[in-house]
Amino acid sequence: MCYFCSTIQSANVMNYDINIKGRSRVVVGSVGEWLPRLLPDKRIVVVSDTNIDRHYHSLIEPYDHVLIGLGEASKTLHTLDVIYRRFIELGVDRSCFVLAVGGGIVTDVTGFAASTFMRGVEFGFVSTSLLGQVDASVGGKNGVNIDGYKNMVGTFNQPRFVICDVMLLRTLTQREFRTGLAEIIKAAVIADKELFEMLEQTDFSTLQSDAERLSELLYRAISVKASIVERDECEAGDRRLLNLGHTLAHAIEKSSTKMNHGEAVAVGLHLIANVAVAKGLLSAEDAKRIDSLLERAGFILEPPVEMRTLLKAVKRDKKAEGDAIYIVFPREIGHCEVEKMPVEEFKALFKEV
Ligand code: GLY
Repeated sequence: MCYFCSTIQSANVMNYDINIKGRSRVVVGSVGEWLPRLLPDKRIVVVSDTNIDRHYHSLIEPYDHVLIGLGEASKTLHTLDVIYRRFIELGVDRSCFVLAVGGGIVTDVTGFAASTFMRGVEFGFVSTSLLGQVDASVGGKNGVNIDGYKNMVGTFNQPRFVICDVMLLRTLTQREFRTGLAEIIKAAVIADKELFEMLEQTDFSTLQSDAERLSELLYRAISVKASIVERDECEAGDRRLLNLGHTLAHAIEKSSTKMNHGEAVAVGLHLIANVAVAKGLLSAEDAKRIDSLLERAGFILEPPVEMRTLLKAVKRDKKAEGDAIYIVFPREIGHCEVEKMPVEEFKALFKEV
């Protein structure tokens, strides 16, 4: 487990406190308790969205704020322009602190806006979706999309803190909640066999309201990411492990609107585990356990489009040189390895399955 983490007991539910690079504190605990402790003594400006404002107005209302639009369609240069202009109107400068309250879109865009406004204003997050808490808001990647190119413009810059309060997840729809479960399962397959076993013992039908269990699972999954980011903040090596299942997931998201990110990641995990079996890298038994867990968590493992269409959407990796792609293969539950290969070689693997 993550050796730079400590735990703090508060009220009935355990609080968890994880430190990344000595620069970013990720807390699993009550926002009411932690926000006043973590906010610096500076003027606070909030960025959020209309949905969060509806559910958690009291978190936003005390501060000057900017509300952005909903969904991936808002992760654009245009939204940045709106934020910068509002910051200028509000007289934001480097002595201020920018607080994002929202899911992965809000935290990605705000992290980039704060990192670039006046060459950098300090920022922190209250992460309000399971997907954001377990992945997007943690680790210092931020940015926006350019047309169909995801996260094409952005920075690596750690938020001063990320607060992950599981009580905020109660207003998510079942589907929104489940999308985050895929990233928890992904983290377990990458590096935490014990977490995988805990997930196998978890009752997913009650998890959204089981604060104790959810906090523990979340803490372990965040710890997997934290320890990887600790070793490789700017994705020159091990951080690629976090892309397990994502090459195919991104292809699914590009070729169909039927699945959200987590649903596509679940299919990506299923497909890559089965290719790993065909390549002799993973035991059939481990692949079966991964499939069963994904299915028990409520995911459909069948791709929403034909494999041929899906593979057409697999593009070279923007982070790899030449016509190559970095693929993460599970070797056993809790251990994965990255392999760089030509795109065509990757596609050919699926003909053998
Ligand atoms: N979402 C993958 C990463 O943060 O590296």
